Amino acid sequence: MSRFVLGIETSCDDTSVALVDRNGNVAAIETMTQFDVHEAFGGVYPELASRAHLDAILPTVQKAMQSANATPADLAAIGVTRGPGLIGSLLVGLATADALSLVWGVPVIGVNHLRGHLRSVGLDGGSMPLPAIVMLVSGGHTLIARMENEWDISLLGSTRDDSVGECYDKVARTLGLGMPGGPAIDRLAREGTPALRLPRPMKAEGFEFSFSGLKSAVARQMEKAPETPVADMAAAFVEATIDVLSTKADRALSEHPAKALTIVGGVAASPQVREAMQTVAQTHNVTLCLPPTKWATDNGAMIALAAWDYIERDISPAPVPKPNLPLGT
Ligand code: KG4
Ligand code: ZN
Repeated sequence: MSRFVLGIETSCDDTSVALVDRNGNVAAIETMTQFDVHEAFGGVYPELASRAHLDAILPTVQKAMQSANATPADLAAIGVTRGPGLIGSLLVGLATADALSLVWGVPVIGVNHLRGHLRSVGLDGGSMPLPAIVMLVSGGHTLIARMENEWDISLLGSTRDDSVGECYDKVARTLGLGMPGGPAIDRLAREGTPALRLPRPMKAEGFEFSFSGLKSAVARQMEKAPETPVADMAAAFVEATIDVLSTKADRALSEHPAKALTIVGGVAASPQVREAMQTVAQTHNVTLCLPPTKWATDNGAMIALAAWDYIERDISPAPVPKPNLPLGT
C-alpha cells in the first residue's frame, strides 16, 4: 500500500529526506546540515554545497527509509524540490529522485520549495484555519501571501533585494558572530538595548520588502562607531526587522481579512519574531499558527507534504531544476 511520499530537499545547504503520510504525519526525517562546510565563507558557497549534497544524499535516503521501516512499495511518489534554489544543489536532489524513480518504479514530482514552506504548518498533525495570511521569511526568500486553500495561494509581495535571513546572516558577520547568524543575533539582541534607531525600508506602504538598506546601515554604523556595543546593535537590528515584518502582517490582515496568520521559513525560528506575530494575531483576533522550529527551516517533510497536494490534483511538474521558480505550481 502506498502510505508515504518520500520528500527530498536539497535546494540550498541542507540535505533532508522524509517520509510523510497524507495527513502530514512524519514517519521519518533525516537531515544533514553543512554549517561546517560554509562557516569560513560567511555564507553558502554553491560549489561546495552541491558536493556536500552528493556525499550525503544516498545515505540520507537510506536512513530515512530504514527509520520508517519502509520499502519502495510503501511510496505513492517521490517529491523533490525543483526550485527555487541553487542549480548545483537542486540537481543533486533531482538526479537522485529520477534515479530512484526509475529503479523503484515510483513516480516523481518536482515540487516548488515555496509551497513546501507554506505547507509546513500542516506537519505533525498541525492545522490552520483558511484563508490565512502566510509570511515566508528564510535565507532565500521573503514574501507574504494569502492562502485561500491548500492549493490556491496569491502572492501579495516579496523582497526587492535581500531576504530577511540573508540580512540576519550578514549582520551577524558584521558583528563578528558565527554561522548560522539568526540564532546568534537573537541571543545577543536579548542582552542589548535598541538605543539606535535603524531604518525601516518600505515599512510605510504595500507588501514589498527591502532589506539591503538595513544591512548596510548596520555595517556603516559599526564602521563609523566601532565602539558601539554589539548587543545594542543586534537589539536595534532585531527591533527594526520585527517592526517591518509585523507592520506588513498587520496590513495584510487589514486589507485581506483571513482566519489565521502564519510565519514560516528559517527566520520564523526567532523567538522575537514569533512573539511579535502573536501580538499582530491578537490585534486582528485571528489564530496564530506557527510551525515548530524544526519545520520552520528547510526540511524534506514539508516537500513531501506539498507533493501530496500535487498528487491530489493530478499535477506532476517534471523534475527539472528551476533556480528562479516563482510562487505558483
Ligand atoms: O528556511 P531556511 O532554513 O533556508 C532557506 O530556505 O533559505 O532559512 C535559513 C535562514 C538563515 O538565514 C538563518 O540565519 C535564519 O534562517 N534563521 C534565523 C533563526 N534560525 C535560522 N533567523 C533568526 N532567528 C533564528 N533563530
Ligand atoms: Zn527554504
